[in-house]
Amino acid sequence: MGTLRAVARYYVTTPIYYVNDAPHVGHAYATVNADALARWHRLVGDDVLFLTGTDEHGLKVAQAAAANGTTPEEWTNRLAPRFQAAWAQLDVSNDDFIRTTEARHHRAVQAFLGKIYDNGFIYLSTYKGWYCVACEQYYAESELVEGNCPDHGRPAEWYEEENYFFRLSAFQDDLLAWYDSEPSAVMPESKRNEASSFVKGGLQDISITRTSLEWGVQVPWDAGHVFYVWYDALVNYLTAIGYGEDPERFAAWWPAVHHLIGKEITRFHCVWWPAMCMAAGIDPPSQVLVHGWLLVGGEKMSKSGLNQISPGELVDDFGVDAVRYHLLRDTPLGSDGDFSYEGLTARYNADLANNLGNLLARVATVVGSKCGGVGPAPDPSSRLAGIADGVVAQAARAWSESQPHAALEAAWRLIRETNSELEAAEPWKAIPGPEVDAVLGSALEALRIVSLLAFPAMPRACSEIRARIGLPPDPGPELMPASAAWGGYPGGLEVLKGPALFPRRRV
Ligand code: ME8
Ligand code: MG
Repeated sequence: MGTLRAVARYYVTTPIYYVNDAPHVGHAYATVNADALARWHRLVGDDVLFLTGTDEHGLKVAQAAAANGTTPEEWTNRLAPRFQAAWAQLDVSNDDFIRTTEARHHRAVQAFLGKIYDNGFIYLSTYKGWYCVACEQYYAESELVEGNCPDHGRPAEWYEEENYFFRLSAFQDDLLAWYDSEPSAVMPESKRNEASSFVKGGLQDISITRTSLEWGVQVPWDAGHVFYVWYDALVNYLTAIGYGEDPERFAAWWPAVHHLIGKEITRFHCVWWPAMCMAAGIDPPSQVLVHGWLLVGGEKMSKSGLNQISPGELVDDFGVDAVRYHLLRDTPLGSDGDFSYEGLTARYNADLANNLGNLLARVATVVGSKCGGVGPAPDPSSRLAGIADGVVAQAARAWSESQPHAALEAAWRLIRETNSELEAAEPWKAIPGPEVDAVLGSALEALRIVSLLAFPAMPRACSEIRARIGLPPDPGPELMPASAAWGGYPGGLEVLKGPALFPRRRV
């Protein structure tokens, strides 16, 4: 059956994380969301590129290396693998991991900023102002809180040095025109409005180089300067697709990019970055998706807050799928959310142990006792068929609109309805025959559909469900959402009982 479909390209990125920080659940939130989106787009047959990595230059890294009696090279080589290990433990399926200290990145930064310089948007001047080393960011006097950084609460430092400046002010009109003409370029809309009112307030040119520091990418036209870490970091998104070196690869992936970022770096990604792309003569990114923060006791989870929770510990305790599910299900992309063990445990018991785990266990048990362990085919006229159609449409739309929580909410509606259907029909009490077969076949079909809709969130558990009901663990090669249409479970497959997928936890 040949379905004609143009292959779409979906390039998704996370922020590159500061290598000095230990990965915490806040970072995991961003990376797991990007991973789920990447996995969904693979399921629908898109050509996907998923990039994450580490941000390794700047004063903070140089200072930490010195304080630990080592060179920045050794220091970053020691630290970067912590992020790689954290993502492996969370089943993150990134296609590439970029480190800004790599030679390919230095070349791309020099090519990109060199192009902007050649285009006349970079000039030399003197910078005077306040700087927070912890955020690697300049602040206006008015933004400081009693002389302290508004984010870190530590004293800002006075800087005065000769810098190259990027003529951001030249892009005010182009940026406003971009927000207007591409309403989905910055999502959610509230963040687009925030960026747009910031631009309307007037743009100052920005300092993009330093002379006081060596740990960075050297400015190609003036060896006394290195690029300020943010302007090197943003370019990582271009490095990974061969900017300046592989025009074909670059043209294939740019501007089909979706940058997932936390709300505190909106200005960098929704103002500075698109303007720099315009200055270099390339399209701005097709989308910046701004997510909120995971809070612990009302405060942003972060290293300086001493409230960070390691994703590895949670995975050891709850299992990888439960952690992924909780991150995706409980904090809608775009909102802030509270992280707590109580919340995670409650979600685990309700959705995973009781609803999904229970459905799988009871279907496998009754197919064992009433159907000799062979799964029957679904009933085409089951009440669940109509529910499933609606759920598939809703979940597919939610995934494609980057709303994992809504996709999962929809999928769990089918799980609950299937459990109610079983409770009403009580096939475990009935005499084996066509009626029992129809009910159980439909429940197996619902499980198959859920294994597709929830696969981007819980690839392991969904593969296990598929294996237990006799299907290939990996979904495909038929493409979603067509492959989730009611009636796809063929019947006649061996259904296996197994240990509880999500054993209930004590509260
Ligand atoms: O800003 N809740 O790196 P970073 C949700 N290197 N997400 C959180 C979070 C929380 N409590 N804490 C962190 C940088 N994040 C730069 C980025 S990109 C060219 C350079 C996530 O290590 C969120 O996605 O501070 C946030 O934007 C990112 O980590 C910041 O990571
Ligand atoms: Mg940060």
